[in-house]
Amino acid sequence: MRSTRKLLSASLFSSTLASGVLADTESRCLALKDSLHLENTTILEVSYIAAPTNVSTAGSCQSSAPVTYAPLCRVYFVVNTTEASAVHAEAWLPDTWYGRFLGLGNGGYQGCIDYIDLDYGTSLHFASVSSNNGLDTSLSARPFLNHPEVINDFASRAVHVEALIGKQIVSAYYGVSPERKLPSYFLGCSTGGRQGTQAALKYPEDFDGILAGAPGTDFNHLIGWQGMLSRFVGATVPPDLNLNPVANDTSPKFLSRELWGAVSEEILRQCDGLDGIVDGVIADPDECDFDPAMLRCTEERSTNCLTAPQETALRNIYSPLYGLDGELIFPRYAPGAEADPAAVNIFGGSFWILASEWEKYAILNVTEHDFTHFGLRDIALWDKINPGGIATWDGNLAEFRDRGGKFLTYHGTRDQLISPTQSKRFYSLLSSTLNQSSSSLDDFYRLFFIPGMAHCAGGVGQGSIGQGTHEGTNLVNDSSHNALLALVDWVEGGKAPEVIIGVDGEGKERVHCKWPERSRFDGAAFVCV
Ligand SMILES: *[C@@H]1O[C@H](CO)[C@@H](O)[C@H](O)[C@H]1NC(C)=O
Ligand SMILES: *[C@@H]1O[C@H](CO)[C@@H](O)[C@H](O)[C@H]1NC(C)=O
Ligand SMILES: *[C@@H]1O[C@H](CO)[C@@H](O)[C@H](O)[C@H]1NC(C)=O
Ligand SMILES: *[C@@H]1O[C@H](CO)[C@@H](O)[C@H](O)[C@H]1NC(C)=O
Ligand SMILES: *[C@@H]1O[C@H](CO)[C@@H](O)[C@H](O)[C@H]1NC(C)=O
Ligand SMILES: *[C@@H]1O[C@H](CO)[C@@H](O)[C@H](O)[C@H]1NC(C)=O
Ligand SMILES: *[C@@H]1O[C@H](CO)[C@@H](O)[C@H](O)[C@H]1NC(C)=O
Repeated sequence: MRSTRKLLSASLFSSTLASGVLADTESRCLALKDSLHLENTTILEVSYIAAPTNVSTAGSCQSSAPVTYAPLCRVYFVVNTTEASAVHAEAWLPDTWYGRFLGLGNGGYQGCIDYIDLDYGTSLHFASVSSNNGLDTSLSARPFLNHPEVINDFASRAVHVEALIGKQIVSAYYGVSPERKLPSYFLGCSTGGRQGTQAALKYPEDFDGILAGAPGTDFNHLIGWQGMLSRFVGATVPPDLNLNPVANDTSPKFLSRELWGAVSEEILRQCDGLDGIVDGVIADPDECDFDPAMLRCTEERSTNCLTAPQETALRNIYSPLYGLDGELIFPRYAPGAEADPAAVNIFGGSFWILASEWEKYAILNVTEHDFTHFGLRDIALWDKINPGGIATWDGNLAEFRDRGGKFLTYHGTRDQLISPTQSKRFYSLLSSTLNQSSSSLDDFYRLFFIPGMAHCAGGVGQGSIGQGTHEGTNLVNDSSHNALLALVDWVEGGKAPEVIIGVDGEGKERVHCKWPERSRFDGAAFVCV
């Protein structure tokens, strides 16, 4: 059943174009403007970046970003996926190329080409492609309004054309015959983690290796649950698009930042030691049976304490969410994650913006809506409509497995936006769908929890694992410390990662464990048990 498709050895294509005359490389790059003729595709701009510089983004995502790894050839293109939708993307083609293709993911409703990850990928010598996910906005879902094809791009097609067209551009530039398959990778987190999962489900041939962080699987439920979290603390009004929270301290359910601080402290008091060490990091929040009653207002304790409605809010937040028919909608919020400063985006008193945007522009097709009564009925409608088939809740990765694909996924245990328990839930779905236990899933699917890591990066603990995506990644040529290169070893060398070593800003290291192993401090070091 399992074929390990023979991949071309990367070294076969290793090329250091710069070893030729630089002007030749530059003119070969610039020639792509007229020489490429690809399906539905217009090459908008080609430039050669000879030395580290800052580049600015196209479209409405105006910002400038560094190119540290140069020289490279930069190709900006657009693919008309239908008459009513298009995907804008850039391919960055480094002079020193190790023969690999890297497709990149997006975050939230971010429709911006990801320059930081393009730079990361090219720094590791991948020819890298990033798209705007069919959107040209940074947060709003407005482009979805009455444009189902735009939703289709967002749900899965943008990453597919990024791979399909991107590989053709890469092959043309480096002179690889189009029939030859380039070793192909995907890297993304959050929405990117969902995109990677969706790619493996719908287009199993697109990538040989997928690195998917904190995947936003079960999308309708995820966004609906986040909306409910904000409702639990009394929010009803979405913020403006700059994510400025609308503080609602008029709701009796609302908790001030100061009170949240007391909650976090109490959570650590109750649960920090469960992993064998009191260090401010909860290795597995599912082991934490946090009891908010300890913070109840009493005669002795009348400040920074919980009233009955606030205690109810916390019990709702730290319990799984069930739907109208009693089915599980989403796992509970991870105790400890509320300590992340960005948790305020959900608990700051505004109705969760991704939920209001989805409801208006993808579900109801309106520009105004009153969210006062948002609840389980809305989530049931989202399930029913499931725009663009976006749910990404299917454990059938058999095709991806059988063609030799490898899937590496990680999730921070202090993720303030997506419950890390959701990754266990997907793992169980996979296991039951494929009828495979963890020992055999290990052949193609491995999940690592990263204690203390916030959403995709940051947080506390040793969360730099080479995951790219913006802050504090570990850009090292060492597959034991770099998840992307660990994936390369797995795909091309058959050497699967048993652990991933993370580092923090001080260079301190910690071994991260492959699920279902757990991280424990044994008195001397962290071990996986
Ligand atoms: C893509 O669509 C735009 C706008 O409709 C059109 O101008 C352009 O010619 C199309 N390009 C291709 C390659 O189909
Ligand atoms: C790029 O911009 C950043 C901040 O705007 C600046 O610190 C850096 O020096 C610039 N780099 C180059 C190579 O121009
Ligand atoms: C090209 O456009 C046609 C018609 O809109 C569409 O059916 C096809 O899937 C598109 N191909 C790509 C690669 O986007
Ligand atoms: C890492 O270093 C090794 C040995 O020096 C080299 O062969 C390999 O191509 C490098 N890989 C990357 C991705 O830089
Ligand atoms: C809104 O439009 C989408 C297509 O873009 C459609 O799937 C959905 O059913 C519409 N919603 C309602 C409530 O009719
Ligand atoms: C604040 O909460 C109160 C009471 O729950 C509610 O009536 C009001 O609409 C909320 N305001 C905002 C801005 O969310
Ligand atoms: C699941 O796998 C087990 C062990 O390999 C086998 O005995 C069982 O028949 C399988 N069940 C299904 C439904 O395929």
